[in-house]
Amino acid sequence: MANVVVIGTQWGDEGKGKVVDLLTEKADYVVRFQGGNNAGHTLVVNGRQFIFHLIPSGILHPEKKCVIGNGVVLDPGVLLHEMQKLKENELEFSPENLIISSYAQLIMPYHKALDHAREHKKGASRIGTTGRGIGPCYEDKAARTGIRLHDLFDRKTLREKIEVSLQEKNFLLQKLYGKEPHDPRTIEEEYLSYGERLKPYSCNVSEVLQDAVVQGRRILFEGAQGTQLDVDHGTYPFVTSSNTIAGSACCGGGIGPTRIDRVIGIVKAYTTRVGSGPFPSELEDETGERIRKTGGEFGATTGRSRRCGWLDMIVVKSSIRLNGLAGLAVTKLDVLSGIPKLRIAVGYRCGGERLSSMPAEVQALEACEPIYEEFEGWEEDIRHIRSFNGLPENTRKYLRAIEELAEVPLFLISVGPGREESIILKHPYEA
Ligand code: GDP
Ligand code: IMO
Ligand code: MG
Repeated sequence: MANVVVIGTQWGDEGKGKVVDLLTEKADYVVRFQGGNNAGHTLVVNGRQFIFHLIPSGILHPEKKCVIGNGVVLDPGVLLHEMQKLKENELEFSPENLIISSYAQLIMPYHKALDHAREHKKGASRIGTTGRGIGPCYEDKAARTGIRLHDLFDRKTLREKIEVSLQEKNFLLQKLYGKEPHDPRTIEEEYLSYGERLKPYSCNVSEVLQDAVVQGRRILFEGAQGTQLDVDHGTYPFVTSSNTIAGSACCGGGIGPTRIDRVIGIVKAYTTRVGSGPFPSELEDETGERIRKTGGEFGATTGRSRRCGWLDMIVVKSSIRLNGLAGLAVTKLDVLSGIPKLRIAVGYRCGGERLSSMPAEVQALEACEPIYEEFEGWEEDIRHIRSFNGLPENTRKYLRAIEELAEVPLFLISVGPGREESIILKHPYEA
């Protein structure tokens, strides 16, 4: 098995970064293919924590190639800051091991301004975006007015594109939102300097990945966000602006679907969500608070506190279907230690009916009451355990229930944030 896609099955923050870092050992390329710096992927290696927003989570392995695909919306200032941080930490990178698609769409200052202005205007009905300009940047891509990395390499092209964009954006910012207009020349100078610094890393990612495939190299695609935040299949309109599901790896990397061999879904042992939108198994009680505290459920990007709830297998089942999952990696199992009774949502009750899948409309989902199965908890700290059979009996029962409900096997269990705090049952590159 050569090429593997890793995606989040819930609403993001499932522990994709940790799992990607772990799997990178057996991969040659690690590719981000969608999203932008709305993502925050945390890795803990030798007791040190690293948070990446744009740089693929394989970067701690200097001999592997990290790739930012065309499907990513790139804030060049944020990327350069992340590169600077790598340098400060003496982590090696160069155009040899960090490659960026020249087709990547750029997040411009007016995208961020619009993101903030819109959310502010929406008031209570806001989406709760990360405010990083993600939505407005993808809008420009679809409207064919976006600016791509290669546009930074030519002053005349860049100037024209910024001027055209600002005619519309400044109108909106000033007239609709009462904000300050943006100055085209200031943006031009700032972005030209980004272009100079990023040019050595820019290339045709599709060609690079094709060569990798021909040479029999192993590619690991690192999803961002989660399936329920997918712009088509998620809890629309409370979603992000990209397709977050596995199929997006093909468009966002420039690789054909026949090249993908296996998709692994990351499942947090409970559920979290940041921002607004329906969340049937949400816990607004002491247990939710306890999970938030023990799990450190505060956003890696915005620092917002994450909403917490029980594991919802209706949500996970929809992800298994949408992503064609071969198996699951269950993370943050250790966080549930000490909770006397655990619950898993196995169905919904909605308007007197029992549902076994998520309803399409967000209003209907809002009205759903989860139907739970209850499980005995376990008292033991499990962070030091490195084998399935070494886990307490009730932990194994909880995991087996997930596997049975999912009808796909468990590949990996994560019992702590550290790279080594993992139990690999099947390796996606060996199974
Ligand atoms: P991502 O966006 O999917 O990469 O996930 P985040 O990095 O935003 O959030 C996951 C958080 O949980 C990070 O702080 C990780 O270090 C941490 N984490 C990952 N796996 C585990 C685990 O098994 N147990 C615990 N306690 N923490 C974990
Ligand atoms: P990772 O990759 C969790 C959420 C935001 C908001 C919605 C839209 O770390 O799992 P956006 O800024 O994308 O327009 O916001 O999506 N969101 C995430 N939630 N993890 C993420 O990424 C997220 N990226 C976006 O909170 O509800
Ligand atoms: Mg995250």
